[in-house]
Amino acid sequence: MFRKLPDPACATVAVTVDGQAMRVATHETAASAALLAAMGATRTSPVNGEPRAPFCMMGVCYDCLMVIDGVPSRQACLVPVRDGMRIERQAGARALAFGSAETADV
Ligand code: FES
Repeated sequence: MFRKLPDPACATVAVTVDGQAMRVATHETAASAALLAAMGATRTSPVNGEPRAPFCMMGVCYDCLMVIDGVPSRQACLVPVRDGMRIERQAGARALAFGSAETADV
């Protein structure tokens, strides 16, 4: 569906998208890397399990929530890639870590 125009002068970094190693331009985001990997859905809805994928690419729709470097529910369209980044599909809702500072204000 998405295909990059060739730009041999563009610097790249190595990332993995759902375990698939690939090189992407340094100006890409985790969401655009996922789209370039043609992984289809990047998460499933915690409400009904429906597949979701990046839509707005500007931080509005939240359909791009993914696990990035082990951290769930990151807005992948707002996260620039970096060398060694692990980008993974997110299934449903993120797990809550009860008793941690992360949930103290919930
Ligand atoms: S694609 Fe819409 S918030 Fe990321």
